[in-house]
Amino acid sequence: MPAVVRTREELAEARAAAGGSLALVPTMGALHEGHRSLIREARRRADVVAVSVFVNPLQFGPGEDFDRYPRTFDADLRACAEEGAALVFAPGREVMYPTEPQVTVRSGPMGARVEGVTRPGHFDGMLTVVLKLFNLVRPDVAVFGQKDAQQLAMIRRMVLDLNLPVEVVGAPTVREPDGLALSSRNRYLSADERATALALSRALRAGADAARGGPEAIAGAARAVLAEAATAEPPLTLDYLVLVDPATFLEVADAHTGPAVLAAAGRVGATHLIDNLPLDLGAPPER
Ligand code: PAF
Repeated sequence: MPAVVRTREELAEARAAAGGSLALVPTMGALHEGHRSLIREARRRADVVAVSVFVNPLQFGPGEDFDRYPRTFDADLRACAEEGAALVFAPGREVMYPTEPQVTVRSGPMGARVEGVTRPGHFDGMLTVVLKLFNLVRPDVAVFGQKDAQQLAMIRRMVLDLNLPVEVVGAPTVREPDGLALSSRNRYLSADERATALALSRALRAGADAARGGPEAIAGAARAVLAEAATAEPPLTLDYLVLVDPATFLEVADAHTGPAVLAAAGRVGATHLIDNLPLDLGAPPER
C-alpha cells in the first residue's frame, strides 16, 4: 500500500524520504481507468509517483455537484497501490485552505472562454489548488488527462507565466469500448442518460471524420449528431461545440491548418459532461 499522508508535515517528511525524481498525479478521487493510465504514465516519467486526492471546493460553482461528488477513498487507495504509486496525499479542507483564501490565481481571458463561459470562476479555483499542490508536493513532473483539454492548456499556461519548475505532461483520454470518455461523473448517469451521453463522443468522431473538409465541415458533421441527441429522451442539452487552438482555446478561423481541438460539453439530466478530440488540420498550402 502507498504511504497515506494528510498534513503538510507528513507530506514534507515523506517527500524528503522518497528521494529521486517525483511525478504528481493530482485528482479529486473517484479513480477510474483514466486515472490509472495517468499513474502508469507518471511511473514512466519519475522514480516516485504521488497521487493527490482532494475534492477542491474552490473550483465548484454554486449549484454544482460539490456535495454529491463521489468520495471513494478506500477504492482509490487500492487503485493507487495496484498501479504502483508510492504516496497518496489526501489533505482535508483545513490543510489546503486553513484560512479563507485572499490571494488566488486568476485564469485570465483564457479562463473565461469555452468551459469558462458556463462555469465562471472554475478555472481560477482549479489553478489555485494546482499551484498549491505544486508548492506542497514540489513534483518534477505532473501528469494530467487530455480529457480536460482546457484545464491542461491552462495549467501549461500557468507554468509558463509563473515560471513554475515542473514539467507538465498530458496523457490521452481513456474511453469505454463504445466511445464514452471515462469520467468520475459517468456514475451519475442512468442507462438511458448514458445512451444519450454517447452522442458527445459520436459527434466528435463524426467531426474528426470530416476533418479533410476543414473547420466548417467538421462543425457541420458534429452538429448533425448533436441535433439528433437534442431531441432524444432524455435529451442532451448542448453547452458548446467548438474547434479551438489547443494552446489558447480561441476558436480557429475557417482557413486554419495545423493542430486544433474539437471540444464539446453538455448536460444529460443533472450531469455535466465534457469531451474533446485533438485534430490535425494539415499543413498550410505551399506558396
Ligand atoms: O482534474 C481534476 O480532477 C481536478 O480539476 C484537479 C486537477 C485535480 C484539480 O482539483
